[in-house]
Amino acid sequence: MKSNDIRTKFLHFFESKKHQIVPSAPMVLKNDPTLMFVNSGMAPFKEYFLGNAVPKNSRIADSQKCLRVSGKHNDLEEVGKDTYHHTMFEMLGNWSFGDYFKKEAISWAWELLTEVYKVNKDDLYVTVFEGDKDDNLGVDQEALELWKAIVPEEKILYGNKKDNFWEMGDQGPCGSCSEIHVDIRSDEEKKKISGRDLVNQDHPQVVEIWNLVFMQYNRLANGKLEELPNKHIDTGMGFERLCMVLQDKQSNYDTDVFTPLIREIETITKTDYDKDEKTAIAIRVVADHVRAVTFAIADGQLPSNNGAGYVIRRILRRAIRYGYTFLGTRKPFIYKLVSTLVEQMGEQFPELQKQKNICENVIKEEENSFLRTLEQGLVLLESMTANTKEKTLSGKKAFELYDTYGFPIDLTSLILSEKNMQLDYEGFEKELQKQKERSRDASKTTTEDWQILIDDEVEEFVGYDRTEVNVRITKYRKITTKKQGNLYQLVFNLTPFYPEGGGQVGDKGFIEAANGNMTYIIDTKKENNLILHFAKNLPKDLNGTFKAVVDENSRKLTASNHSATHLLHQALRTVLGKHVEQKGSMVNSDYLRFDFSHFAKVSDEELQEVERFVNARIREQLPLEEKRNIPYEEAIENGAIALFGEKYGDAVRTIGFGDSVELCGGTHVKNTNDIWHFIITNETAVASGIRRIEAITGETAKEFLTQQSKSFDALKSLLKSKEPIKSVAQLQDENNQLKKEIEKLLSEKAQGLKVNLKNNIQEKNGVNYLVQQVDVDANAMKDICFQLGGEVDNLFVFLSADVDGKALLTCYISKDLAEQKSLNAGTIVREMGKHIQGGGGGQAFFATAGGKNPAGIAKANEDVLKYLD
Ligand code: ALA
Repeated sequence: MKSNDIRTKFLHFFESKKHQIVPSAPMVLKNDPTLMFVNSGMAPFKEYFLGNAVPKNSRIADSQKCLRVSGKHNDLEEVGKDTYHHTMFEMLGNWSFGDYFKKEAISWAWELLTEVYKVNKDDLYVTVFEGDKDDNLGVDQEALELWKAIVPEEKILYGNKKDNFWEMGDQGPCGSCSEIHVDIRSDEEKKKISGRDLVNQDHPQVVEIWNLVFMQYNRLANGKLEELPNKHIDTGMGFERLCMVLQDKQSNYDTDVFTPLIREIETITKTDYDKDEKTAIAIRVVADHVRAVTFAIADGQLPSNNGAGYVIRRILRRAIRYGYTFLGTRKPFIYKLVSTLVEQMGEQFPELQKQKNICENVIKEEENSFLRTLEQGLVLLESMTANTKEKTLSGKKAFELYDTYGFPIDLTSLILSEKNMQLDYEGFEKELQKQKERSRDASKTTTEDWQILIDDEVEEFVGYDRTEVNVRITKYRKITTKKQGNLYQLVFNLTPFYPEGGGQVGDKGFIEAANGNMTYIIDTKKENNLILHFAKNLPKDLNGTFKAVVDENSRKLTASNHSATHLLHQALRTVLGKHVEQKGSMVNSDYLRFDFSHFAKVSDEELQEVERFVNARIREQLPLEEKRNIPYEEAIENGAIALFGEKYGDAVRTIGFGDSVELCGGTHVKNTNDIWHFIITNETAVASGIRRIEAITGETAKEFLTQQSKSFDALKSLLKSKEPIKSVAQLQDENNQLKKEIEKLLSEKAQGLKVNLKNNIQEKNGVNYLVQQVDVDANAMKDICFQLGGEVDNLFVFLSADVDGKALLTCYISKDLAEQKSLNAGTIVREMGKHIQGGGGGQAFFATAGGKNPAGIAKANEDVLKYLD
């Protein structure tokens, strides 16, 4: 069975059990500060488990792209070494939100595996939670009884909290779970050791394929468990492992999920997967990582120097390094694998097809730059280890290479071993630890439990229509961050505050109690569908009604920038072409920033055209056409632009100004006229094939133009001219003319000097020599030496100069003379350089030195004569 058919069968099975089948959510999470990437199938549904939103369908199934490379679930360092861990993988899952529970979850899982996929029952083992004293929980009796009705008792194992109690994070929904493991060893091996003894023992052929989680508790910040109001099912089956089982393979990498990539890597790098273990590991690393990186970029996450972008960069660098060290690659090659991946998975994940070019370009550029870093690191490592008798490279130096130059520690260790040197690994670890503590301290946040004031109120956002409204506080909690100290997050029953999202900053403002006391809201963010209002203090009395007021001025400026961003997007697609896609944006009250795909620098003419386009739409006074709650499909059919990597619900909002229509949740002007004017202030590159435009509008643009006009006036009065541009051009002409004249005069001076110097040449022992201090710069000294050299044979010249307090020495020796008398200009300037407290060097016939002590010139001129004896 082909992998694509295996996936389809799973989805069809749950469709037949009345599940709604949904596409995978993007892998990069936007509204969840506790998680960078989707790390399990349930992450996109967290808001349902937490009760912050109600799903339209209480039964859902999908195949979700997951990435386990940071935080609680991190498999990165294992990947490649074994045959069944991955950074990016697909998790097949079925969910019940307060609908069915253990009975159905268990029996359907069994039915699908044994009757649809026809996995041999004898090869399957199941686990049940054994209970935990600290949590005051006993054996999961219900699951045990259900399994007993299906499988013989010897197939059931008990598991502890680590294996059989699933938690989303340190806090939040959790519950016991039952895992299904499969034994795919040969009959012979099975006879020798029972599969039962190998479950959860990291055996590559006795592996967990499906985890059925029975969510029924909430883990509080104080570590205690409380019952959730509703019970849920969350299951996750590793798609790649399932393919291994059903395709009768011994490794995930031998399934058709990976073999096309592996064959392509072998062809490009001229290696053989079966050659040895090191090569195989490297090929597996590359095959795995190219998937993670390509999917992440297609979801809009570019490699960068911080946050999620840095994680992606690290994954790619790991692949580049494995290629460099074990596959002998010295040029970018990973980007070439994108085509193979798209061919294989593009149908299921259309974002791959659409983003293919961007993925290839970005990966290639990253490869180029990291290969340069590797080369630089190699040079640095060479200089650290040359001329040393020590046999160990200190941890500090290794850490410097690692931290400043991104040079991987195992590569350092490998190179050292080739030089018969060692690495102070302990010292390195200490430095690494210190750095980790520094960054942990800097980003440490503690979050206390919610204090509930009013239960069961779902927060409503009313900020599109109103910036002032009466609210009540439904719950609050305290958080402590290293940077900002104590803060409070408040949740209201309804709110006019826009939470940061879609590139737009969160609103600021205040809430006012009935007695006039005000509490400032310094920021607004969304977390798992809850709108959190950040305040430095709590109101004295938390009950009662507050007047919530958004800082309207700031909101207006931001709206102007946001609407201008849409017009800019439209302008770029019109002026540069339809290939332009939004790759990121940032909108606040000061300015807007827009990143987009385009393969060349945007020329000045193009930028002017873009500006003209946007300003024309502003002058057309286009009214805002806002549609709320329309079906996603309808919006797309009407031409609305959706962004890759954005998670849209079934019902969406569209924002239109004339022909510009985008899916958007932000706040906007009522008419493009309110934007007043649009000015591009900057155009730069963000990554290969990604450009960035920064621009200003409204009051900021007005202020900018006023400042420009002031500067222009100042220029006019400075130049005493009504036409300053003409005057500056004239000045530039004059300046160029003067420069030319100075150059001519200087060359005449040097010519005159040369003639004088030539007259000063004396003779000693058959050598024509000249030792003299001159009043010219280093270049002129060199010219003079070579000109004299062309005219006089057997010449020895030693010139010195004091240029702005710096001593310069220049030595020239005719080639024949240098050879005959074994004279070396390089050695001479180095020796004489000591008199001027400096150093230098060069070749045998010409060398220069510089030093900080011009007072030593006379001594040098005297001392140098000894070479003529
Ligand atoms: N959420 C569960 C897991 O990731 C199914 O294992």
